[in-house]
Amino acid sequence: MPLRIRPATEADSFRIGCIGRDAFRDTVSRALFPPELYSKSPTGDPGLDEALWRAARNTRRLKEGKLTYVAIDDPQDGTTAEPEVVGYCQWELPCSEEQSNAGAPEVDRDPTPPTLDRERARAIMEMGERKIKEALGEEGHRDLWYLMILGVDPAHQRRGIGRMLVQHGLNLAREQGKAAFLIATPEGKGLYQSLGFEQVGDAYDVYGTVHCSMLWREPQAGSA
Ligand SMILES: CC(C)(COP(=O)(O)OP(=O)(O)OC[C@H]1O[C@@H](n2cnc3c(N)ncnc32)[C@H](O)[C@@H]1OP(=O)(O)O)[C@@H](O)C(=O)NCCC(=O)NCCS
Repeated sequence: MPLRIRPATEADSFRIGCIGRDAFRDTVSRALFPPELYSKSPTGDPGLDEALWRAARNTRRLKEGKLTYVAIDDPQDGTTAEPEVVGYCQWELPCSEEQSNAGAPEVDRDPTPPTLDRERARAIMEMGERKIKEALGEEGHRDLWYLMILGVDPAHQRRGIGRMLVQHGLNLAREQGKAAFLIATPEGKGLYQSLGFEQVGDAYDVYGTVHCSMLWREPQAGSA
């Protein structure tokens, strides 16, 4: 079935929230939305709480100008099946020091459901920031294309959708003469390596999932 990419709109946010919830269910979501908080769910469905929180975060990031793309699976096979969003990615573009320090910490920018462990969310964010500086220096990723998040619906993984989304961003970064950066989960690492990313700094544990910083630079002419 044909796959394509288009810029995301706010109308995509709930679907993006659902994909994020499902894609990260065995890694960061398990830490952020621990079972011991399920009984606090205001909707009675902790999975819905998470999707709504992810959707609100996505909408806010869109408004802040984060470059967001969705992958569409468009059956085009004569059936009545509708085109479906099956993956997404979100990039923070190079910015000034003032821009990067503006506003409250990310975790405080969206209303959070009581099923979210705020202390862990804050700890994860702070660890990420620390590791980025360890890997890249005080300037962090300010001069780089930073892949904030990439998620593919588990029912559609291993079809090349993640690759398509990341490659699209790398092409845009290359046009600007910029390098790219991300923090990889074990699931993403092989894909990123095959796209030319290299690990920078040591791997580290985030509530049971090993993460590592990865940097991509445009291959120089003449290099292998
Ligand atoms: C990481 C993730 C985004 C990859 O998405 P994806 O669409 O499955 O990625 P791709 O299909 O492009 O590539 C994934 C692997 O499938 C392989 N693949 C691609 N097309 C394939 C096909 N038709 N058949 C079999 N394998 C295929 C790729 O070679 C790649 O292998 P590798 O990991 O050994 O390099 C997805 O697994 C995901 O959402 N994971 C959970 C969230 C997460 O960890 N996100 C990354 C955060 S940094």
